[in-house]
Amino acid sequence: MHLISTFAFAFLQAFHFINAEDFGYDGVRGPTYWGERYQECRGKHQSPIDINILRVKQVALPDISFVGFDDSIDDVHVTNNGHTVLIEVDNEPHPRVSGGPLDGDYIFSQMHFHWGDNDTFGSEDKINHRSFPMELHMVFFKEEYKTAQEAVKHSDGLTVLAFFYELDRHKHPAYDDITAALANVTEPHTTVVMSHPFSILNILPYDLNRYFTYRGSLTTPPCSEVVIWLDFEQPVRLAHDQIEAFRELRSATGKIRHNFRPIQPIGDRVVFYNVDNKYFNYNEVDNPDEDNTQRRKRGHNRSNVTLAKDSPRTALNAV
Ligand SMILES: *[C@@H]1O[C@H](CO)[C@@H](O)[C@H](O)[C@H]1NC(C)=O
Ligand SMILES: *[C@@H]1O[C@H](CO)[C@@H](O)[C@H](O)[C@H]1NC(C)=O
Ligand SMILES: *[C@@H]1O[C@H](CO)[C@@H](O)[C@H](O)[C@H]1NC(C)=O
Ligand SMILES: *[C@@H]1O[C@H](CO)[C@@H](O)[C@H](O)[C@H]1NC(C)=O
Ligand SMILES: [Zn+2]
Repeated sequence: MHLISTFAFAFLQAFHFINAEDFGYDGVRGPTYWGERYQECRGKHQSPIDINILRVKQVALPDISFVGFDDSIDDVHVTNNGHTVLIEVDNEPHPRVSGGPLDGDYIFSQMHFHWGDNDTFGSEDKINHRSFPMELHMVFFKEEYKTAQEAVKHSDGLTVLAFFYELDRHKHPAYDDITAALANVTEPHTTVVMSHPFSILNILPYDLNRYFTYRGSLTTPPCSEVVIWLDFEQPVRLAHDQIEAFRELRSATGKIRHNFRPIQPIGDRVVFYNVDNKYFNYNEVDNPDEDNTQRRKRGHNRSNVTLAKDSPRTALNAV
């Protein structure tokens, strides 16, 4: 096993903002009690929420620019922090996003997952009361704030791109390297370097044009209300065994069987739904017999998702 130094561990802790042992998902350390130690967890604009499709406001936002998402990234670290598994990159420059509802550029910080005891629930946000078995959070901080730690002090400090998962009969090949790495970080506070270069775009759904967006919070303490959420509508499809691999991870107190926060009141907030009018049809029925390749062919035309081709990273990696 390829363990990383305590230096890396301290670094990772910093990214997660607070000490890993300070909260949990059950009993007296569970979400019901977070507010006792972390005032902001009692705020009025908390996440996650249940998005009611009948109450969203349809909008046509500018295209999102995804920079560095199709680069092949080396030195990707996979870490069990006792709550979830974090995926982080060392190389500069980091991937970034701008456009859509965002004002300015947001720099990649880390991504991590939330899941449930079985495949019937586990996502944090819901859509029309529907839970998904797992959810990916890609966390970015606003460039002008320089670091994630500084960004969490500002109401527009972070954006999280959230992706839902649903079951497929077939494995998603791009997730094999992740699940292989999971097997080496089952113990809390362990880190492994992914065995192959990693490309973010490969693990995302095909349609990046349709998403819900709203203002909310971190879903873990300190629950800071600093997040512009983008929840992409099209789920990523994984095989049951691939999701099951996450449930083997352990915290200090045993297997992490679930790590999602319950739904919070939406309050006075409006959820916007970005639709490409050409394709507007919510809840298109997926055929469970269709595999990922067929679906990709059928999928919405991605040509106007802006992928910056000549990001500086490409040049850097070539050296
Ligand atoms: C999933 O877990 C929930 C809560 O533990 C339980 O009520 C439900 O029966 C389980 N469903 C399946 C299909 O195992
Ligand atoms: C995980 O450990 C196995 C051996 O148990 C090894 O073959 C594999 O390469 C490791 N994976 C990573 C990502 O290091
Ligand atoms: C997507 O659109 C581009 C240009 O608009 C076109 O060349 C391409 O064939 C389309 N792809 C699919 C799968 O429809
Ligand atoms: C995507 O491109 C189509 C034409 O190819 C255009 O009609 C549509 O408005 C574009 N979508 C966005 C979000 O710009
Ligand atoms: Zn999260």
